[in-house]
Order: sequence, then structure tokens, then C-alpha cells
Amino acid sequence: MKIFITRIIPQTGIQILKNAGIDFLQWEEKRDLTQEELIAICQDYDGLISVGQDKIDKKFLNACKHLKVIAQMAVGFDNIDVSEATHLKIPVGNTPGVLSAATADTAFLLMLAVSRKAFFMHKRILRGEWGFYEPTGNLGIELHGKTLGIFGLGKIGFELAARCRSAYHMSVIYCNRNNNPEAEAELEARKVDFDELLAQSDVLSVHSALTPETKGKFDYATFSKMKKNSIFINTARGGVHNEEDLIKALDQELIWGAGLDVTNPEPMDKTNPLLEMPNVAVLPHIGSATEETRGAMSRLAAENIVAASKGLRLPNPVNPAVFD
Ligand code: DGY
Repeated sequence: MKIFITRIIPQTGIQILKNAGIDFLQWEEKRDLTQEELIAICQDYDGLISVGQDKIDKKFLNACKHLKVIAQMAVGFDNIDVSEATHLKIPVGNTPGVLSAATADTAFLLMLAVSRKAFFMHKRILRGEWGFYEPTGNLGIELHGKTLGIFGLGKIGFELAARCRSAYHMSVIYCNRNNNPEAEAELEARKVDFDELLAQSDVLSVHSALTPETKGKFDYATFSKMKKNSIFINTARGGVHNEEDLIKALDQELIWGAGLDVTNPEPMDKTNPLLEMPNVAVLPHIGSATEETRGAMSRLAAENIVAASKGLRLPNPVNPAVFD
């Protein structure tokens, strides 16, 4: 089996491919492949490790029907037309679970950074503005005893909620289609409807997948229903919020602050007004960016490839129906 990998990935995954005798090539240029280039390259390969946001849509899949596996090195797979892959009987895998802690750490970091205006204050030092001490200037807000609202409580949201409870005794509410019994038992989390989530949350953190249902869900109307002193956090997908509406909501003080690890589009333009707002912290999609987590993600992606090379069910399938 010959595999094309759209980025250089950690050695953990590479070693697994080597041990299994799988041939592979990594794309080494520091730029995204165009879809035309990816389609052309994939004609010579049997499988793909997709890293980042490679556009695996109907056009790609129909041009690459011969692929025996697509292993997405991420938990999210909104860049892949899974139903078309299923229709074409191409197994698709992802890397769930292993990045929950690192991504929750990023959400926690953003929450704290926003609540104390940390990124903005750092920029003030760089601008030579660490001057006169003002007891009433640039005050943050504290998190102790506040309410954390989670939109899409899965593994990452659970990890964030656990951190917020132990660090700040925060109460946890969440909005999901299904109940999360583990979070209810262990974190006293309470399921609420969307409007109550907006009305009650002091910190509202998004952990849902990007789907037609969640796309643009956090828009002007949504922000208008949130508490004026609330903080909006998104470490999931930038498409879940409307960025222009978020800027307006912050400008008009409909909400207090925002922390983003995902933006819309990515990369964010350096002139984006969010980057200059005092109560905003933005990171360049680094949720899973630790040695440990990226190593584990490459392991799961490689294990999906190895299983496919043996004609086996993928250990982490996104479309298990292809094996029926
Ligand atoms: C994921 O795994 O979905 C992360 O956002 C990395 O892309």
C-alpha cells in the first residue's frame, strides 16, 4: 500500500507505517496543496492521511474513487463529505479522544487570558505602555463560582468542565441533543435548552462539530441573548460563530469578551479588529499542538491506515457503515 500524507507528521505515526511496511510520501512544502494538485498526486496512491483542512468533497472523492482509506489526522472531519465517501465505500477514520485534554487546556487558557485581558496587557508592554499604575484601569473579572455553559458537551467539553470545577468551583450547564450522564454524575452538569444556555452562562464555550445545524449558530441574535458580562470561547470550528457579528457584539458590549482558537476564515487576517480588542484573546488553532497529543494523533491516523492495508475495520472509523 502507498500512502500520501498532506503534511509532515510526528515520528510516532511514521514509525508505525514503516513497521507495517507501508510506503508513504509526506508533502514537505509549507503551503496548502490545491485540490487539483491533491487529486493529481493521489492518482498514484492507495490511501491518504489528510492533515489540516484538505477539501475532501464530492469532486475530490469521485476523482479518487480508487482510494482504499482516508485517515484524517484530527478529530473534526467537516472538510470531508463523509456520506459521499460512504457511498463510494471509502473508509474514513479520525483521531478521537487523544486531543481532548490539550484542547480543553487551550479553552481554559483562553478563558483565563480573556478574563484578565492578558494578551492585550502583554501588547501594552511591547508598545512601551507599562506606565502609570491605575487602580481602576484595565480590570479583569474573576471566575470563581461562575457558570460555565458548554455548547456540545463531549470529551473536550467534559475536560474543560472538570478543570473549571476544580479550579473555580464553577457550575456547569450544557446544551446537547442527548444527555451526558457521565458529566451529570461527575460534574453535576445540568442539561438546558439553547436559550437558557445563553441566558445563564458567564463563560460559554463551544465544543460542537461544524455541521449545517451549527454553522453560524453564534450570530448577532445569539450574542444579544447572552449576559453582558459573559465570555465567549470557541476552540471547535470558526464556522460555528459569525465573526462580523462577534465583532459587533463586542463593540456594542453585548458580551464582555471572547477567546478564539479557531477563526473564520483561517488564517485570520492580521488587520482583524479582534486582534486589537482589550477583552479578546486569539490563538492560531493550536488546540492539539503539544508533543504528546500530536504524537498520539499521528499514531491513531497510522493505525487506521495499517488496519485498512490489511482489509480490516478501522479502529477509529467515521463511517462504520462501509464495513457492513
Ligand atoms: C481537530 O482535531 O479537529 C483539531 O481542530 C485539529 O485540526
